[in-house]
Amino acid sequence: MALMEWNDNMSVGLETADIHHKKLVSMVNSLHEAMLKGETKEVLAKILHALIVYTEKHFEYEEGLFKTNNYPDYDSHKREHDELTAQVKSLNDEFNSGSISLSIEVMTFLKNWLTEHIMDSDMKAGKYLNSKGVH
Ligand SMILES: [Fe+2]
Ligand SMILES: [Fe+2]
Repeated sequence: MALMEWNDNMSVGLETADIHHKKLVSMVNSLHEAMLKGETKEVLAKILHALIVYTEKHFEYEEGLFKTNNYPDYDSHKREHDELTAQVKSLNDEFNSGSISLSIEVMTFLKNWLTEHIMDSDMKAGKYLNSKGVH
């Protein structure tokens, strides 16, 4: 069974952000599946790296969209993105240096890392943008 399941209550009302979020969910699931299959460290490292690259791209996209639309909570949202990026990068460093390996705890951390931001901050931003006619 997949670690995470996309469902409609995760929709933030922004078409492109939803597409990105679905992709992020599927990347976290791929990492989880690869871990369960006992894939090599190289394979896992590649997926984790791809997740980081995609996350940064997605955060940049949202920040651009929020800025263009004068989202009042832009600064705190951006700060949260920066923190999330730092967290996943330090996880990546620890994984690559061998000080941690992927475990269900790490995967649960990633699942919550993604879900909590979407369900709280992205949802608020989506509501604001929707009220301005942006979908
Ligand atoms: Fe997002
Ligand atoms: Fe966000």
